[in-house]
Amino acid sequence: MSYRQIYKAWKSDPEAFWMKLAEGVEWERKPSKALFSNSDQSYNWFSDGRINACWNAVDRHVVAGRGDQIALIHDSPVTGSTSRITYRQLQDRVGKLAGALLERGVKVGDRIIIYMPMIPEAVIAMLACARIGAIHSVVFGGFAANELAVRIDDAQPRCILSASCGIEPGRIVEYKPLMDTAIEISSHKPEFSVVLQRPQAEAELIEGRDLDWQEFVAGASSCDCIPVAGDHPAYILYTSGTTGQPKGVVRPTAGHIVVLNWTMKNFFNVEPGEVFWAASDVGWVVGHSYICYAPLFHGNTSVIYEGKPIGTPDAGAFWRVIDEHDVKVLFTAPTAFRAIKREDPDARLLERYDLSGLRILFLAGERADPDTIHWAENHLGVPVIDHWWQTETGWPITGNPMGIEAMAVKYGSCAVAMPGYDIRILDEGGNEVERGELGTIAIKLPLPPGTLPTLWNSEARFRSSYLEEFPGYYTTGDSGFMDEDAYVYVMARTDDVINVAGHRLSTGLLEEVVASHHDVAECAVIGVHDELKGQLPLGLICLNSGTDLRDEQVVSECVQLVRDRVGPVAAFRNAVVVQRLPKTRSGKILRSTMVKIADGEQYKMPPTIDEPAVLDGIARALKSIGYPRHQG
Ligand code: COA
Ligand code: AMP
Repeated sequence: MSYRQIYKAWKSDPEAFWMKLAEGVEWERKPSKALFSNSDQSYNWFSDGRINACWNAVDRHVVAGRGDQIALIHDSPVTGSTSRITYRQLQDRVGKLAGALLERGVKVGDRIIIYMPMIPEAVIAMLACARIGAIHSVVFGGFAANELAVRIDDAQPRCILSASCGIEPGRIVEYKPLMDTAIEISSHKPEFSVVLQRPQAEAELIEGRDLDWQEFVAGASSCDCIPVAGDHPAYILYTSGTTGQPKGVVRPTAGHIVVLNWTMKNFFNVEPGEVFWAASDVGWVVGHSYICYAPLFHGNTSVIYEGKPIGTPDAGAFWRVIDEHDVKVLFTAPTAFRAIKREDPDARLLERYDLSGLRILFLAGERADPDTIHWAENHLGVPVIDHWWQTETGWPITGNPMGIEAMAVKYGSCAVAMPGYDIRILDEGGNEVERGELGTIAIKLPLPPGTLPTLWNSEARFRSSYLEEFPGYYTTGDSGFMDEDAYVYVMARTDDVINVAGHRLSTGLLEEVVASHHDVAECAVIGVHDELKGQLPLGLICLNSGTDLRDEQVVSECVQLVRDRVGPVAAFRNAVVVQRLPKTRSGKILRSTMVKIADGEQYKMPPTIDEPAVLDGIARALKSIGYPRHQG
């Protein structure tokens, strides 16, 4: 069937469509129907089925005779090692960790935070939680202790699974002191933690609270998978919203198993047994869906890469991994390719490797600029597919479904809606705009299986963030347009979220931290264009009158403050002191006008501006630190 036929089949009978997909996975009890709509306009999927994600990711493949196939490859240029784990070995290791957690009293529905670098144990920890129905929440290693503490307080975990350190090029990141500080400052105290000791930096364990990972699993007996209800939360993944408080996106178990399994063949076009590599991090949604769960549900081999696109050791790192492990499909963020292209513009390092096995490159996480796509197409000689989705959805909203049909590529567009997503472009009044016109990208409810049913601890915020602006629709937070062929073009966020190297950050959070400096009267943080990372945060700071500190000193203290409180991942390095911030007469800061000035773009004087001359001051201050860096 063609893409259009499949999309139509879904639209004309969604219930039959999803029930058919549900046959692709194994249930302890099959669901009686797909969609469960509740009286309050909320929706769940496959709720009365019983299923286990770990069974579907691991055990069922062993039973089916794939026990000796490699499930995970850990390729770690930062430690100079590579290791492989078969499905049978994975079953044993996951079963023992899950058994040890059960023996410590962890029950179905308990939360467990995972704070780990890119090592197999991170995936083993996720699967062990899934095995016993515990809800994991993975926290990205590049966040500071304070961000970990915020997540501990919200998720209230029974325990934290961690490692002594992560390894970034040129430095060891000691996770344990960060975890200790987080537990110290959080109100909720996890009962215990389990720490994997890595030889690069062994951690000191706190007697009575911290357990050594190897000892923890050594005496444990492996446990069976515990089936859970279809709508049981598989995990919580915190992501940035408009305010400093992150949103705890909840992933429902059955929907996520059913659709992720389907996407591997139909979207990514890989067959069971083939090697699939998502070069991301387990701390992000891409890592959840496409390093851990989907490839394993589908019986693929997944690569866990502990390195960078450049510098570990060079811009040929990705080519080496593809060659060495016979990667058939690669998924990464455009930033990674921009970094490679910058270091090795003619892709000379490619000559050293055999990439004949690679079939497709998928890009997502941020807008894929046509230059980068062309470069990758020319040098790799494979289709390069931009696709668009979010932490909230857990799987592609739009893209080119390569396993169904290779649709025409339109540069600048992330292609067409996947079954389940009825995309509409709306104006401010909630009316659909004409094809080709810009508007808010919304999705008609219900959202498909696998997408978020709510935010953890915050149903009200879920409704106000996503559902209230346009009743009957989910608001994506992105704006863009749809062309005559229903291809979607995602242009920008409509909220204060920015995207730095494929990492989603809240400018609201950065503003809160900068504003907490005792000499800062007020500030704005905006996302400015960056050739490598797509966007970078830039701070505009107004000082309290009478401060003794020099401007540069306040700036450098604010930069340090963000690094300490939010973490290095914020990449907050640029800020400048200004006399005043431009505001509307009602006091709203004109952030988008400042973005245009910093990016060297034309802008119209906002009619509601309080004092137009303030913009001249902003332009002068930005010029003093080298903005605009290019002409928009
Ligand atoms: N643990 C601790 N620190 C981390 C970290 C982790 N897991 N990941 C990143 N950091 C740190 C980095 O060391 C860096 O610290 P520094 O300020 O001391 O240099 C900082 O966070 C910013 O990291 P990063 O965004 O990775 O920037 P970079 O300049 O080190 O590298 C790229 C630039 C393009 C190579 C890098 O961003 C990259 O590989 N991007 C791929 C995109 C991606 O995977 N996106 C995920 C969504 S699909
Ligand atoms: P995250 O939740 O971290 O995956 O970030 C999701 C956001 O990243 C989206 O809402 C978009 O703003 C942006 N994004 C992801 N993929 C794309 C893409 N292919 N094109 C444009 N923006 C994208």
